[in-house]
Amino acid sequence: MLKMAIIYHSETGNTRNMAELVAEGAGELVQVILMPVEDLNEDALHEAAVVAFGSPTYYGTMSWQMKKCIDTLPVSMEGKLAGVFASAAWPGGGGYELTEINMIQGLLVRGMLIYSGGVVTGAPPTHFGAVSRKSPEGFDADRCRKLGLNLAKKGIELFGE
Ligand SMILES: Cc1cc2nc3c(=O)[nH]c(=O)nc-3n(C[C@H](O)[C@H](O)[C@H](O)COP(=O)(O)O)c2cc1C
Repeated sequence: MLKMAIIYHSETGNTRNMAELVAEGAGELVQVILMPVEDLNEDALHEAAVVAFGSPTYYGTMSWQMKKCIDTLPVSMEGKLAGVFASAAWPGGGGYELTEINMIQGLLVRGMLIYSGGVVTGAPPTHFGAVSRKSPEGFDADRCRKLGLNLAKKGIELFGE
């Protein structure tokens, strides 16, 4: 079965809750492993064809913990499929899309293929990835599940089951 890793940083649980919902969406189709940035599973990461990255927004960008994680990932990410998700306290100005774009920049440089599902795969839209105000509920929770499902579908399309 295709393997997907979900790497996240979370201090107060909001991004972790997003990660669990991304896992719920993807878990219908692929085998998922959740990894906090402080406890990466190198073997599982090596085996994962799809990797999602989630960060809280800190001063309009990803947290330093996520930046350090992306800078120091212990296995080659080249050719793996990636998606992103981010939480923030203040949607509409707080910067969660910037957090996502900043993560995407680093992941592109590492040779990853980026996918969000975009706005063409039905509601709710996942523009750059899934976003949530604080802990995801309702629409925000649906976006997380949908990101997971879309990453799993695209992963199977690219790499097979
Ligand atoms: C140091 C710090 C900086 C933050 N900066 C922002 C910010 O620029 N914009 C925003 O909307 N929220 C900001 N927040 C709020 C967090 O992004 C938000 O509470 C997030 O959901 C926390 O995720 P977590 O529970 O996974 O740790 C900041 C929080 C901290 C601790």
